[in-house]
Amino acid sequence: MRILVVGSGGREHALAWKLASSPVVSHVFVAPGNGGTATEPHCENVPIPADDVERLVAFARTEGIQLAVIGPEKPLVLGLADALTEAGIPAFGPSAEVARLEGSKAYAKELMSACGVKTAAYATFEELEPALEYVRAGEGPIVVKADGLAGGKGVVVCADRAEAEQALRDNLEGGRFGDASARVIVEDFLEGPELSYIVIASGTDFVPLASSQDHKRLLEGDEGPNTGGMGAFTPVPFMDDALERHIQSAVIRPVLAELERRGTPFVGFLYAGLMLTEDGPYVLEFNVRCGDPETEALMIGLDADFEGDLVPLLIAAAQGRLAEVRAPLTSHPAACVVLADGGYPGNVSPGHHISGLSEANARDGVKVFHCGTRRSHADVISSGGRVLCVAARGESPQDALSRAYAAIGDVHFETMRYRTDIGGATHDEPT
Ligand code: AMP
Ligand code: GLY
Repeated sequence: MRILVVGSGGREHALAWKLASSPVVSHVFVAPGNGGTATEPHCENVPIPADDVERLVAFARTEGIQLAVIGPEKPLVLGLADALTEAGIPAFGPSAEVARLEGSKAYAKELMSACGVKTAAYATFEELEPALEYVRAGEGPIVVKADGLAGGKGVVVCADRAEAEQALRDNLEGGRFGDASARVIVEDFLEGPELSYIVIASGTDFVPLASSQDHKRLLEGDEGPNTGGMGAFTPVPFMDDALERHIQSAVIRPVLAELERRGTPFVGFLYAGLMLTEDGPYVLEFNVRCGDPETEALMIGLDADFEGDLVPLLIAAAQGRLAEVRAPLTSHPAACVVLADGGYPGNVSPGHHISGLSEANARDGVKVFHCGTRRSHADVISSGGRVLCVAARGESPQDALSRAYAAIGDVHFETMRYRTDIGGATHDEPT
């Protein structure tokens, strides 16, 4: 089988690596891919940008692609899954209509109210003055979110009303994220541990991946600005059968059923970002794709044999027959740590030479996924904010983290930074 993976980050490297290991897969094209996918066995980069819908469809047609797996949200919002489906190519990823679940927080909120899924109380604003009045009327922490796509950076958790006013001005007056911040959501502040719950979905059928947790803040102790994610581990310690059943019946099933009822069934990875409050799980956000870096931990955690083969599930989901093959996936504890450029999430300085990748990859249970890299002859060069993601499998998430942190000691590039406390414990800088 010939597969096309769309995207260029660590998530896509992890997906391409995992899909290429399936016995039914002969070739995985990655568009545009990165310095890691360029040399992955059975993988090949294709120089087409992830958001060039027309060229991707033409390529998939010419190359006889039998399954397209779309990594990032942008091409989904632009209608890549619709265009591929129209061309007769099985696409694993939701339609543009359904991708609004991630592309517009206001739409996600409306859908959740319609089907009774718990989420923080909120108000939506396009004008500054009424938004300022709304936040001034209350006290304590509050959360300001850009409505549209902001690369994981559109949420500001404001400790007080002065901070909230500033966030509102940045979005509505300053146009911080362009069109994406022309509308904002102001949301009640919730407290509790967070987890990511991701399922492979098709209509109202779904197969869950293991629970995971991301670390969105840049700095140790969950300080500093929000990023796309600095590390992750799976499973989360507080997940048990009862909680999982509850999340499925209170969040996943109602949302999938509501989308089906509206005539816009979901196909793809449905990602619920959840907070376990005293009043049970609340949805912080939905994504219509796999998380990054959660995917890097989840893919290395999946069984290497049939029980962990994603391909039959993804193809069945894309063809609307997931119920026929529905099989549980077997997974193991795993974790990953992102190595970022020193300027991330602000201005990054690409072009740094990366060393030590073969040593790190030679370690037991370790795989270094590339996020923002390119090849220059035999060299690997940094080309983005999140540069690498060192993933490992272990006996427990903590064991996996120890392996990942040990492997980080092998890797070097100028300005490299990473969090030393992924998974809770502190891991000293390797010497
Ligand atoms: P989101 O992109 O919506 O998942 O938000 C990014 C991060 O901001 C989340 O992982 C939470 O840590 C935090 N956050 C979002 N919404 C809330 C909320 N209503 N209350 C407290 N923290 C929140
Ligand atoms: N890791 C969070 C996300 O992918 O949105």
